[in-house]
Amino acid sequence: MLGNRESLSKNVHFIGVFDPKIRIFDIIMKTANGSSYNSYLVRGSEGVAIMDTVKKEFSSDFFVRLEALCKYEEIKYIVLHHLEPDHSGALIELMSKAPYAKLIISGRAVMMLKGLVKTDIAFEVASTGKTISLGDKTIEFLSTPFLHWPDTMSSYLHEEKILFSGDVFGSHYYDERLYDDEVGDFSYAFKYYYDHIMRPFKHYVLEALKLYAKFEINTIAPLHGPILRSNPQFYIDKYAKWSSEAKFRKHQFGKKMVSVFYMSSYDNTQKMAQKVMQGADKVEGVVASMYDLASLDEQNMIDLLEESDAIIVGSPTINGDAVKPAWDLLSCMAYLESSGKIGAAFGSYGWTGEAPEMLHDRMRWLKFRLPVKPLKIKLIPTEDELMDCVAFGQEVAEITMGKMVEMEI
Ligand code: FEO
Repeated sequence: MLGNRESLSKNVHFIGVFDPKIRIFDIIMKTANGSSYNSYLVRGSEGVAIMDTVKKEFSSDFFVRLEALCKYEEIKYIVLHHLEPDHSGALIELMSKAPYAKLIISGRAVMMLKGLVKTDIAFEVASTGKTISLGDKTIEFLSTPFLHWPDTMSSYLHEEKILFSGDVFGSHYYDERLYDDEVGDFSYAFKYYYDHIMRPFKHYVLEALKLYAKFEINTIAPLHGPILRSNPQFYIDKYAKWSSEAKFRKHQFGKKMVSVFYMSSYDNTQKMAQKVMQGADKVEGVVASMYDLASLDEQNMIDLLEESDAIIVGSPTINGDAVKPAWDLLSCMAYLESSGKIGAAFGSYGWTGEAPEMLHDRMRWLKFRLPVKPLKIKLIPTEDELMDCVAFGQEVAEITMGKMVEMEI
């Protein structure tokens, strides 16, 4: 029933499913080319391991592929590299069919398992260095947390030199030709996936790459999109580069970046922004910049936020709220690491002036360090108030440079 294409090798087979029509994944990701939920079957002399399952609504295709290759009684292990439903959706049904299968999950997955499956199931925990045996096949586990779920792990099939990487190295790219050397050009999907899924965890990516480097890898078998067999190192190098590159400004000048983002209705918040920036720029070792949110697209926002050591957001208050572009800016932090960045908020207002405090609170939830109180000024700033803006920017910049103060005001 299965052609050769589904066989990564004599003993390892693709049993995943295709979702060509999906156009938005996980609410935030556009998937112009659809996607796949990859699952793999590994056969050894003493049994079979199933590496992840698929999204629940596609499980019938998954079971057809699986049944063509093994009997349920042969399944010795079911490995879930993380518990997200697009890969655990068929778990309960599979466990009910496979009487001798033992579930393998990471330690971090234990707390999540019951919440996901709503029943008690037996499992075994794997961490770095643990191995399972299928007789003539050995699978070794690697703890690679936060890529992109806290419980993520990877595994390596020694005899075939295959890395089961979880979502790492994935692409939302449906193509039944399966392999990177046979499918269409998926380079944009590979980068887009990295940017939206892995980029917030780039330090964890680098840790995972160190673990992967201990193994000779012939094939990377990710959970979405093409299987990477032509030159795995090419993709590893891409991840290494994207996760470690310094942004060009920092790289060029070695200074701390303080960025002032603002929107203004009647130039009042804009005048404040100008002074905040001037105050920040007075500090030795800092380069301050300002950006009108009215004209920044999302990718620019993400790049600037990533590059910035301190992010100061200015918004007028309209109908008791900050303006939408300010919220859009902060929503971009979903794609980035925010802990450690300095945050601050300001704005001019006419009646109630909630916006700076609302933005300040939002940044607190995003784990910014917040050393100064929000600054708000009623309508047109006076000369004295503009000097307060200078002092505000200067204080944020000095703290960014290491001045010691109490955080979380
Ligand atoms: Fe593809 Fe994190 O699930």
